[in-house]
Amino acid sequence: MPKLMRFYAPRSLKIARGEGQYVWDADGRRYLDCHTGHGVAFLGHRNPRVVEEIRRQLDKIMVASPIFDTEIKEEAFKLVEKILPSHLTYLYLLNSGSEAVELALKTARRTTGRSKFISFINGFHGRTMGALAVTWNPRYRQNYDPFPWEVEFLPYDDVESVEHSIDDETAGVIVEPVQGEGGLSKASPEFLKAIRERCDETGAVMIVDEIQSGFGRTGILWAYRRAGIEPDILVAGKSIGGGFPVSLTALREELGEAMKAGAHGSTHGGNPLALAALKGGIRTLLEDQVVEKARAAGEVLRKILEELAAENPRVVRGVRGVGLMAGLELRTNPAPGIQLLQGKGVLALRAGLTVIRLLPPYMITGEDLEFLRAKLDEVLKEVAARRRSGSS
Ligand SMILES: Cc1ncc(COP(=O)(O)O)c(C=O)c1O
Repeated sequence: MPKLMRFYAPRSLKIARGEGQYVWDADGRRYLDCHTGHGVAFLGHRNPRVVEEIRRQLDKIMVASPIFDTEIKEEAFKLVEKILPSHLTYLYLLNSGSEAVELALKTARRTTGRSKFISFINGFHGRTMGALAVTWNPRYRQNYDPFPWEVEFLPYDDVESVEHSIDDETAGVIVEPVQGEGGLSKASPEFLKAIRERCDETGAVMIVDEIQSGFGRTGILWAYRRAGIEPDILVAGKSIGGGFPVSLTALREELGEAMKAGAHGSTHGGNPLALAALKGGIRTLLEDQVVEKARAAGEVLRKILEELAAENPRVVRGVRGVGLMAGLELRTNPAPGIQLLQGKGVLALRAGLTVIRLLPPYMITGEDLEFLRAKLDEVLKEVAARRRSGSS
């Protein structure tokens, strides 16, 4: 058997099946899933509408290039219209977040004729070469330069540096409204407004990356909307297909118009099964009050995390994130705590160097949240005891 490349530290858990907010291991043990495949299963595992739409499509056709019209394309696009801002009139579907980011960056490069980008410290936008160029983590970038474009990394949420650094040479600015991988920092409305204003003044393209924060996860459909601004390009992925690999790049009319035949493309992008998954995902969002439920659960989660932070000040530095994209910033490496949580039936992941990140699905219940509180509390006490005894 070939060996899987070791890009991620293995978690020593064989997952056998998933349903809603839970997964089960090969021995039948249940886990509350706050990892959700790096935030993908926000609509829950095997979401019934997503499964239904994919099944229905499987019986019709699985392959049709976007050059052909299909019923499922029409159905999915009608639904996408309901969740996108009305000024983003062009859309392209791809398979992963990184690919959606690539198209956004290529559009900014091509339409402005400029090649300098602005991104932010701790920003994460993917690992293909263009997306990696705007991803901050030096560990991911190491030995891959030169990158396709020049990138300046500014401090996140710093209005002054944005006002100073976006200029007539800037092709585009890419920003996460809530930083996912980088540590769950939130952008203030003033910061996003300042980017919008400077992009308007200089002709730079504002790209908002909602691949992790979008589709209701933070308790609002798109997290950038808290700032009352609109981007030129919106990229989304992860949860939009309910677990099926699909991402989207939505563009303002004149940007979409300018990207002509040959400017981009994808063999699998917008495949009929992906469109069916997207249809099922959006149906769920609209028919099952996903955003409202995520907001309510996010508020309870926030309260729990704040209480845990107050009760465990020796190990917890603070609460991070927003809605169901939240976590605890520890005073220590979060990896042992995440492994302990797994042993107690909760899957979580890290963000940045110190954060235990929780990305649960929208249907997480009050009972689940109480379970999560109890397990987190046990883990924090164990981490504190280990620290006292000097074993971690
Ligand atoms: C904000 C953000 N952008 C882009 C990506 C890259 O997405 P993918 O891994 O699907 O290529 C991620 C993945 O974690 C992300 O969180």
